[in-house]
Amino acid sequence: MFISHIVGARPNFVKAAPVHRALSKHTHIQQSIVHTGQHYDANMSDVFFRQLAIPEPDVNLQVGSGSHAHQTARIMSRLDEVFQQRRPDLVLVYGDVNSTVAAALVCSKLGIRIGHVEAGLRSFDRGMPEEINRVLTDQLSDLLFTPSSDGNDNLRKEGIPEHRIHLVGNVMIDTLVTMLPLARQSLPASLPKRFALVTLHRPSNVDDLPWLSNMLRTLAKLSEKMEILFPVHPRTRQALLGTDVNVGNSSNIRLLDPMPYLEFLGLQTQAHIVITDSGGIQEETTYLGVPCFTVRENTERPVTITSGSNTLVGRDLQRLEHEVQRVLSGAWTNGKRPALWDGHAAERIAAVVSALA
Ligand code: UD1
Repeated sequence: MFISHIVGARPNFVKAAPVHRALSKHTHIQQSIVHTGQHYDANMSDVFFRQLAIPEPDVNLQVGSGSHAHQTARIMSRLDEVFQQRRPDLVLVYGDVNSTVAAALVCSKLGIRIGHVEAGLRSFDRGMPEEINRVLTDQLSDLLFTPSSDGNDNLRKEGIPEHRIHLVGNVMIDTLVTMLPLARQSLPASLPKRFALVTLHRPSNVDDLPWLSNMLRTLAKLSEKMEILFPVHPRTRQALLGTDVNVGNSSNIRLLDPMPYLEFLGLQTQAHIVITDSGGIQEETTYLGVPCFTVRENTERPVTITSGSNTLVGRDLQRLEHEVQRVLSGAWTNGKRPALWDGHAAERIAAVVSALA
């Protein structure tokens, strides 16, 4: 049986690593990795492959950046050629990025079976490009691997037959569990005693410059209470130049380059609070029990709120200040880890896939 993994962006690498490893224990399965090239900077891609011990991609489609339509179309036509040369029996796609939906479309046209890892998540916000990617990929997939039972409920409501849905748990947490000891060893020699870790990269936050400026002013205020470490995504780095707030001048806000996986995970373990608009970080902080404030109106990962340590603050910056104050005054209560976020999700996926052969 020949399986091809399609990865393109940072979070894909983190999710594919444990699945590739788990499948490599099944000797009747051959695997290949196709990197679409959606993320191409060394610190957005190569370093993840190295740290997560993912084999070098067999193919790199080198599609680079561009509008969503261009990026998706380039992935589709180049991947189509790759699959014409050697046709996989199953293609595994991950998460909700443009590379995910592009690969799913190619496979559906070629009649190649698709497995979607991290299926069923819904923000119910069609204004998010990722939501479109999720809905379409799930409709096209033959095997849908969900991280939590809300995913199963969403898929059922969309008419996906029950036998295609497999509740396996969270593969991003598999990677976290494996890498945690190394991450703890990767901590910088000196860290502030108390700090907030911040990441922002969603177009809805960083492409709206007046709003981004307001957020930066709120961060500047918070930085009077604790130091802020802010690894800056390339999209955000560009946007910061257009704002009227120069946070780089504040000695309490450290703007950093995008960080490798281990270093960033290490910082999450030590952070007093995390402020983010990322999907995966809502999950990682839930596992670690670190208070997380998500600057979004909705989340496709509701268990991080109902069970975990995540709070949606939306566009209410006063609420953000208030919530941070609650943590500082000790009024905050920790959540719980969701079921099956136990480090073994990829093994459950491998068992389902292996039984197909
Ligand atoms: C993509 C995903 C998003 C995911 C994020 C993780 C989609 C629609 N979005 O967003 O869901 O949360 O990855 O990081 O697929 N750039 C570089 N170097 C790189 C990659 C990007 O400089 O290696 C810059 C380019 O200017 C590019 C911009 O960042 O235009 C955005 O990159 P893109 O891959 O389009 O989307 P992300 O914002 O990274």
